[in-house]
Amino acid sequence: MCGIVGYIGKRDTAPLLLEGLQRLEYRGYDSAGIAIQTGGAAGKPGALKTAKTKGRVRDLEERVPKRFSGTAGIAHTRWATHGAPNDVNAHPHLDPAEKVAVVHNGIIDNAAELRAKLSADGVAFVSETDTEVLVHLIAAAQAESLEGRVQEALRHIEGTYGIAVLHADFPERIVVARNGSPVVLGIGENEMFVASDVAALVSHTRQVVTLDDGEMATIKAGDYRTYTTEGSRTSSSPETVEYAAESYDLGGHETYMHKEIAEQADAVDRVLAGRIDDRFATVHLGGLNLDPREARAVRRVKILGCGTSYHAGLIGAQMIEELARIPADAEPASEFRYRNAVVDPDTLYIAVSQSGETYDALAAVQELKRKGARVLGVINVVGSAIAREADGGVYVHAGPEVCVVSTKCFTNTVVAFGLLALHLGRTRDLSVKDGKRIIEGLRRLPAQIAEILKQEPEIEKLAKKYADARSMLFIGRVRGYPVALEASLKLKEVSYIHAEAYPASELKHGPLALIEPAMPTVAIVPEDDLLEKNRAALEEIKARSGRILAVAHQEQEKADHTIVVPKNEDELDPILMGIPLQLLAYHTALALGRDIDKPRNLAKSVTVE
Ligand code: G6P
Repeated sequence: MCGIVGYIGKRDTAPLLLEGLQRLEYRGYDSAGIAIQTGGAAGKPGALKTAKTKGRVRDLEERVPKRFSGTAGIAHTRWATHGAPNDVNAHPHLDPAEKVAVVHNGIIDNAAELRAKLSADGVAFVSETDTEVLVHLIAAAQAESLEGRVQEALRHIEGTYGIAVLHADFPERIVVARNGSPVVLGIGENEMFVASDVAALVSHTRQVVTLDDGEMATIKAGDYRTYTTEGSRTSSSPETVEYAAESYDLGGHETYMHKEIAEQADAVDRVLAGRIDDRFATVHLGGLNLDPREARAVRRVKILGCGTSYHAGLIGAQMIEELARIPADAEPASEFRYRNAVVDPDTLYIAVSQSGETYDALAAVQELKRKGARVLGVINVVGSAIAREADGGVYVHAGPEVCVVSTKCFTNTVVAFGLLALHLGRTRDLSVKDGKRIIEGLRRLPAQIAEILKQEPEIEKLAKKYADARSMLFIGRVRGYPVALEASLKLKEVSYIHAEAYPASELKHGPLALIEPAMPTVAIVPEDDLLEKNRAALEEIKARSGRILAVAHQEQEKADHTIVVPKNEDELDPILMGIPLQLLAYHTALALGRDIDKPRNLAKSVTVE
């Protein structure tokens, strides 16, 4: 969702900020804007120039006047929450005197109340945004320093924010603050950057400082300092970002989705690297912070996530139950946080998130922590909000994922759950023999993924055959059901074809009524103890003239088409069976001319309720 970029240094600011905004486009947005500090030097006021527009960053580029140079600036991509997506509501927001410019991610909960108070004092609002109250509060603050004014304003604010503030009278600095919405400083040579996401920084620097909640920073061209909203100094040492700028580029692919699907064999290598312990037929997960005694004391596992991460959690729960024999289930974090769930001290809670920023997942974690629960994270983005909030966890090391729909991160998350299930199993009753069997299975995954990806030309042909469907049914049984759920989500997200997933066991209880030639079924048919049951489901569909595309370990006689995937261990099969269906969704969307990396109405990181 919303993105922030800021720069201060000797270089011409506008092109740098526009490039930064482009790198944040993947998060999803509907308008963009920029404010530049012009003129002014230390001690002498400058002036602020702005440009903003509804639409894309390239639309903003066209609006930025040629003479728009300056050496400090802030910019924003906005995803509308308070007020429609239009030019006026786009950030940055300025006060009437055009002294203060603010970009803001997050939501100010008491905006309506503050707006009413400020309006009663004679303040005229121009936009419908919650952010504008902050601008007026900063403009009205009495403190001498810009830092003091921002602190004064923030004292009135309830809600979440990542902000960057530019002030015409303080031309040599940008002040930023964080509460629940990421802010990262990028340290260059006599220049400083700020962003809400490292993706906007890595082409310039890999030295970053991530602010904590309640922390602020002042950045100047040559230095920075961090402190709390109460004014006490904090010490934040720079860290080096793991991935270089190229990891965020297309690398010769047409789309990020295609690139990310293609990267999966390497990504799985990374999640396994250095973690397998052959001697004890287990794995080492350094960040878990769960000693064997604590691991044995776990009575239940509850996994929480949203969207694709929730689906990865469903597979993870099955693996934990099968390998560790601990009752486990997964639930959408967005539901869990609203139902006053019973929080049990013997349950291990696991939050799953690619971004580590999803608001509903973060809120669920905070609620659990408040009630004294132990919460682990299975997270991709290192140092993200959920990763910081959790008591420990497993990083999935999928690398940067740019396409809105998740593919490689889903696969790596499920593999990470395989590792966790094996670890929990081996602290309990999983035998050395079974531990070794699972390890061998995990090791086979990268080569098997590469084998599946080689079938892309055939899958592309199949996608063209099924692209005319108005609706598709996805079925799977037990291990296959979460695979069906995720595959149907992938198809609807990128192709906009309606898709519904159902347990194959429930076919007779409703969905059979839908079957006819115009309603194709994608069936997940692993070769496990339920094979015959799944075959019976195919017969039932065929008997009603339904078209069937099967994903199976061998050709299925009843299916019109079968995508054959390599067999792994039964427990690990779900990791592989979804991969051809990512390609099916991709090629269907391509055949239909969809905006694959940025599907309509969707955002990569949903940082609001
Ligand atoms: C959004 C994205 C999905 C993603 C979900 C959870 O809805 O469009 O692709 O699965 O958020 O995101 P997370 O970063 O928490 O995994």
